[in-house]
Amino acid sequence: MMELPVSVDATGIAVLRLGSADETVVTFTKERLLALDRALQALAQRSGLRGVVITGPGPGMFCAGADINLIHSIQSVAEGRDAAILGRSIFERCRNLTVPVVAAIEGPCVGGGCELALFCDVRVASEHPSTQIGLPETKLGIVPGFGGTQNMARLLGLPTALDLILNGKLLRPVPARKKGLVDRLAPSTKLLAFAIEEISKLAARGKKAKGRQLRGQAYWFSKTPMRALAVNAAKKALDKGQARFYPAPKAALELCVAAFTMPIAEGFAKEAQALGEMIATPVSKALTHLFFLTERSKRLGKGNGARPIDSALVVGGGVMGAGIAGQLAGKGVSTRLCDLSGEALARAKSRLQQDLSRRVSRKQMQKHEAQATQDKLAVATDWGSLAHVDLWLEAVVEDLLVKKKLMAQAVARGLPSDAILATNTSSLPVDAMADSVPNPERVIGIHFFNPPEKMPLVEIIRGKRTSDAAVATACRLATRLGKFPVVTSDTPGFLVNRCLSPYLNEAARLLVEGNEPEFLDRVLLDFGMPMGPCRLLDEIGFDVATKVSEVMEAAFADRMQPCSLFAAMVAGKALGKKSGGGLYDKNGKGEGPGRKVLDAVRAHRGVPKRTASRSEVIQRLIYPLVDEAYRCLDDGVVAAEQDLDLGLVMGIGFPPFLGGITGYAKAEGKKTIVAALDDLARTIDPRFRPSDGLRRRAID
Ligand SMILES: NC(=O)c1ccc[n+]([C@@H]2O[C@H](COP(=O)([O-])OP(=O)(O)OC[C@H]3O[C@@H](n4cnc5c(N)ncnc54)[C@H](O)[C@@H]3O)[C@@H](O)[C@H]2O)c1
Repeated sequence: MMELPVSVDATGIAVLRLGSADETVVTFTKERLLALDRALQALAQRSGLRGVVITGPGPGMFCAGADINLIHSIQSVAEGRDAAILGRSIFERCRNLTVPVVAAIEGPCVGGGCELALFCDVRVASEHPSTQIGLPETKLGIVPGFGGTQNMARLLGLPTALDLILNGKLLRPVPARKKGLVDRLAPSTKLLAFAIEEISKLAARGKKAKGRQLRGQAYWFSKTPMRALAVNAAKKALDKGQARFYPAPKAALELCVAAFTMPIAEGFAKEAQALGEMIATPVSKALTHLFFLTERSKRLGKGNGARPIDSALVVGGGVMGAGIAGQLAGKGVSTRLCDLSGEALARAKSRLQQDLSRRVSRKQMQKHEAQATQDKLAVATDWGSLAHVDLWLEAVVEDLLVKKKLMAQAVARGLPSDAILATNTSSLPVDAMADSVPNPERVIGIHFFNPPEKMPLVEIIRGKRTSDAAVATACRLATRLGKFPVVTSDTPGFLVNRCLSPYLNEAARLLVEGNEPEFLDRVLLDFGMPMGPCRLLDEIGFDVATKVSEVMEAAFADRMQPCSLFAAMVAGKALGKKSGGGLYDKNGKGEGPGRKVLDAVRAHRGVPKRTASRSEVIQRLIYPLVDEAYRCLDDGVVAAEQDLDLGLVMGIGFPPFLGGITGYAKAEGKKTIVAALDDLARTIDPRFRPSDGLRRRAID
């Protein structure tokens, strides 16, 4: 039976730890909750007790929340509700103890961990950068169920609680103190001493808890009719964009309001019921599935031979190289960014500065952290010494000969024999580049997406001769940058561009047939994509789309012949955002110069306009995407279905609430998809013919 460590000093102050010293991660499993229950009950019986400090097992960890396996395994509303009631009633023992209870927080204090802290009388947080506090439950499709909505709303007021809970925001120590989520900050070494001081202060005044009243706006927007303003603003935000597909934030909104409209016991009961309802939804199951996939992706960087990268040389300071170099510097990698053009380097430096200033002004980063990032990035037209470089990465023009020549130069100029040689190519074979160097096992593709600052996916392209150690090292780096690596084989388009290709091609065909960009984009937004295909084409640029589609056609001529619109848009100089407008204008609002090109292509086709139904659009855009994903699996582009799910959610924004592309295929029915594709192949074009792999899966 699990026992939580409890020590009581001579003055009657107990320190209860949420785990034993050897535990680096603490989550609330049922076993741990019951151990906490026993520990709190034993303390309640103890005579001479003056106060209790609840803290983590050791430095850098308080509690990372409820065990996600537990959340994922609960299937029924009643089971979810009962789990919530059990957890909360255990945490309530902290409030019911007659002595002060102080949470001493360092490291993650999230979800259930934060809910426990909210039942404590005082919260002291370590200033250590690992400290993060908040309730991210809505990101898993559920609501806080262990009292979090009621306690946080009452403590911080409705507007702040809505901001934190509905968005699943985590706060670092200083903002947590400013918002009142913690009462006091402490240097890491004094955390326990400060917590004990808080107990002594309360004990000296014979009090259990600090009385705290809502004041100012927090009061007006929580406890008066002005509350409606905060509620309406939140409701409006939840009805917009992708937010409308997620029920949990809406449920959380109602719960936060309940904190001011009902007695706390009723609020707790309502919260437990809501947790039960949310935990059983397919959305929650889809989001927890995705969470497991992200954890799996992080483990890739722990493979055999994964080495740390301390020093990097990035060659090519354009759109991608500049962004990648900034990401590396931001994570403490000494980075030198080189380009032939001094102008490109100046642009790269100012782009990083702007990005950092924006993050400082949004309080996502402190000034000294921004400065540290800048200090880690040097820009130069020459490579300097390569003697200490761990990673050499090129992001120059998409030209195989240039890339090969540069790799050979890196080796000739003394790049250490164990350094990684990486390319950010989006379409060229990594194996061909490896031919130019003596140690091809260290040549690898590290394919960032545009913009590297925002896009969470990194495809790690494994050539035929790439070593396991190089793959693990690249995955470790991607994880360090806060990205999710997916390992793919060295085949045209890798995973994401290969799946995206039929999707964008078909969107272009639907445009040419007579459908308007606004209509197609609306249908796909309603499906749950973060951006419609026409807007995406404008973002990518028709020049890039054309190049990629040529590579894809060469490899998959049976189904990826580029739509004539691509080349026409390039010829008409309506490339998209980068050229001042494509299908949309340069601000992405009105019609762009590409509409004339589109009209001309339609006229040239000489067939009357035909508009598709919404379901036809989905069948022609999404079903081939599903088919191509399974083809990638069957062709060994990726190793597992999980890679398809994570890769397409993180790479193209496939709706997370659908549980990834395989979750969607399952829910839609593979039989239905195959039948529709067969029908399209018969009535429109053989390019729709489904693969044998998908056909087989439809029967199984
Ligand atoms: N732009 C995208 O959306 C995207 C996405 C993923 C991958 N990629 C890939 O990343 C690579 C770079 O793409 P980009 O969009 O950043 O290109 P870009 O044209 O914006 O930048 C390329 C830079 O490389 C520099 N350069 C060219 N030859 C060089 C040399 N010999 N030494 C040093 N610098 C040199 C150029 O001056 C230019 O600044 C390409 O392989 C591309 O396929 C691009």
